[in-house]
Amino acid sequence: MYDYFLGGKDHFAVDREAAEAINAISPDAKDLARANREFLGRSVRHLIDQGVTQFLDLGAGLPTRDNVHEVALRHARDSRIVYVDNDPMVLVHARAILADNPSTIVTEGDLRDPGWITGHPEVRAHLNFDEPIAVLMVAVLHFVTDDGEARRLVAEFRDAVVPGSHLVISHMSPGEAAGDALAAGREIYEKSSSGGIAFRTHEEVLSLFDGFELCEPGLVRISDWRPDHPAAEAPATPSGGAIGLAGVGRLDS
Ligand SMILES: C[S@@+](CC[C@H](N)C(=O)[O-])C[C@H]1O[C@@H](n2cnc3c(N)ncnc32)[C@H](O)[C@@H]1O
Repeated sequence: MYDYFLGGKDHFAVDREAAEAINAISPDAKDLARANREFLGRSVRHLIDQGVTQFLDLGAGLPTRDNVHEVALRHARDSRIVYVDNDPMVLVHARAILADNPSTIVTEGDLRDPGWITGHPEVRAHLNFDEPIAVLMVAVLHFVTDDGEARRLVAEFRDAVVPGSHLVISHMSPGEAAGDALAAGREIYEKSSSGGIAFRTHEEVLSLFDGFELCEPGLVRISDWRPDHPAAEAPATPSGGAIGLAGVGRLDS
């Protein structure tokens, strides 16, 4: 569905139908997907400016334009990237594209099992856990619908990395969407392979950063997080629908 929203070619009829059903409720879904992708690129550039060159990208998604490794390697040639996803189709595409890229590995894993990912021999061989790591959870945590489980897994990743590491989150939030529109959206995602979606409030997403110091400008709409071109990226008018929130936190000692 996300690939369809981004204008990609790697989706099935069932994905298109579900994505169009979301579009009918939330006509700016495509804009949100693109804005999310742009946020991802800006956050990677910010992390490299902070001296972080190791990336653990959880729920990495299908390779598309300006993937994490491309942005990172463009700005820091010694960057190392681990892509993790639990969708077999994503893994096939990612491995095909990255087969001959020594900076990057692709691992099958479920972010609900942090210990398995951070203890995976290939992950540990590729990333140095004694140095800061950027843990990316971009447009994925809302698929973990249980609040306690979302908090627990973020805390487990936090405890696996050293001070100076960063957490990047973008997350769907109700915004001004009406209750019945959110319920209809939830129903579509419940029938999809993601199994559901949680639209968390600003306060709820903020609580996921427990133990991290939020970088400026804090937890904001995705297009408002350090925009390259503020005027061009800001939506002309608020849609009245669900929104995406984004933030980057730094783990201090
Ligand atoms: C909307 S895409 C986001 C892709 C990318 N992070 C981005 O923001 O452009 C969500 C991805 O998360 C993956 N995903 C969903 N639940 C997951 C889980 N529990 N563990 C690992 N990956 C998951 C999906 O397979 C999908 O590829």
